[in-house]
Formats: sequence, C-alpha cells, structure tokens
Amino acid sequence: MSTGKLSVIGIGPGAAEQLTGAAREGLQEADLLYGYGPYLARLTLAAHQRAVPSDNRVEAQRARHALDAAAEGYRVAMVSGGDPGVFAMAAAVCEQIEAGPESYRQLELAIVPGITAMLAAAAACGAPLGHDFCCLSLSDNLKPWEVIERRLTAAAGCGLALAFYNPISTARPWQLGRAFELLRQQLPAQTPVIFARAITRPDQRIRVATLEDARSDWADMATMVIVGSPATRVVARDGRSPLIYTPRYA
Ligand SMILES: C[S@@+](CC[C@H](N)C(=O)[O-])C[C@H]1O[C@@H](n2cnc3c(N)ncnc32)[C@H](O)[C@@H]1O
Repeated sequence: MSTGKLSVIGIGPGAAEQLTGAAREGLQEADLLYGYGPYLARLTLAAHQRAVPSDNRVEAQRARHALDAAAEGYRVAMVSGGDPGVFAMAAAVCEQIEAGPESYRQLELAIVPGITAMLAAAAACGAPLGHDFCCLSLSDNLKPWEVIERRLTAAAGCGLALAFYNPISTARPWQLGRAFELLRQQLPAQTPVIFARAITRPDQRIRVATLEDARSDWADMATMVIVGSPATRVVARDGRSPLIYTPRYA
C-alpha cells in the first residue's frame, strides 16, 4: 500500500461551483472519505473510493478513525462543510494529533481551505463584513455560555460587525434570542440583521430585519446570522433586494 496521508478538505457552503480546484484534486486522490453524512452525500465517488459517514456529534472519534486509517497507509480525506478550519474538522484533527500516539505526528497532513458560510452569506447580500468584524459560534456544546456572552458583548461594544455560526438547534433553542437581547442593549435598534439560510443550495433563503424586529425562530441549524455594526448601511434598490454593506472607513 502507498504511504498514508490525511487531507482535511473544505467543500464550501453547498453548490458544486463553490468547490475549489485544490479541494476537487484532494477528493480525487483519496481512497477513504470520512465526514458527516450529509457532507459526504454531496459528493460523487469513483468506484475505488469508499465513504465512511458519521454523525455530527462524534467529531473526535471520526478524527481518530481517519488518522488510524492514514497511519495504516490509506489516502484519507476528511470532508468538512465550508472551510475545515472554521468551527470544523481541522481543529478536531489537530486535537487528536496532539493527544494521540507519535505515529499521528509523523503522518503527511494537508488542510485544504474552502469557502466558509460566512463569506458566501455576506457575498449574497453585499459586503456586510466589508470592514472589521468578528465571527463567533453560538454553540455552548464545547465552551460555557458565559464565555460566549462576554465575547459577543465585547465585540459589539467595540463596533465590530458580527457573524454567528451555529445560531440555534433543537438542543440549543434559547441562545440566539439571548444574544439578540444583549445586542439590543448595545446597538441601535435599526442595525441590520441578516438571516442567510442554506446559502448556495437549492433551498437558499435570505431574510433581512432590523435588530429590534429580529426573531430567533427565523434561524435554524443551516442559517448564518450576520449582525451589522453601527456603521452598516442598507441601500434600497428598486426591484432588487437591498444592498447591505459596511463601509471601509467605519
Ligand atoms: C459546525 S459549523 C461549520 C461551518 C463550516 N466549517 C464553514 O466554514 O462554513 C455549521 C454552521 O455553519 C453555518 N453554515 C454552514 N453552511 C451554511 C450555508 N450553506 N448557509 C448558511 N449557513 C451555513 C450554519 O451557521 C451552521 O450552523
């Protein structure tokens, strides 16, 4: 068998055109492809390739299995939605390399970037992240909610636009509503809030509201929420959706 390799590959937000050339090449050279089931389902595999899907709550285990397969000599792809370094599998793999046997550190490892949801969502409505911004995961699965509150309050308080990944889920139903409450204490009522769902996929939906009207039940697990800074502008356009941008001099 050939020398093993693990490539952690970002496949972008959804549409096939958003897959980079490097990601496509990385996928083609793999024998085994690990990942969350729905991400693997987006790919068309060649006859010699085998998909090993897993649930989205078993990231550490998935990373170890992929590292073990690469250590055995397989060419392995770890498939990640968006960019693998943004709240995704690249850090999970690095955690296991640090904690695992010496053989993990000797492996050939490649991290192949992809278009992250935040950038695809921003591009779909203008340039809301056109100046300084901060992105946060609202998931308190791996960090305490108090930390998230402190970070989002600090970021909003110093004039940054905000991009929220993992805004809500069945197991985390109240966190986005609480985030809006905190932001209403700091930001103008008219601050634009973008709910960008399933961007670049057939069921894409974009809704724009003001912070005073924004409702957490407009988001789901497939939604990116972008909250403007006090400088973010909404430019009305006749017969077209508004253009939302944060000017570079803000
Ligand atoms: C675990 S994070 C993974 C992020 C991914 N690594 C990336 O770079 O986009 C999952 C979150 O990303 C966001 N997301 C992923 N794909 C999206 C899309 N096509 N449209 C909108 N949001 C998306 C949602 O907030 C979702 O809850």
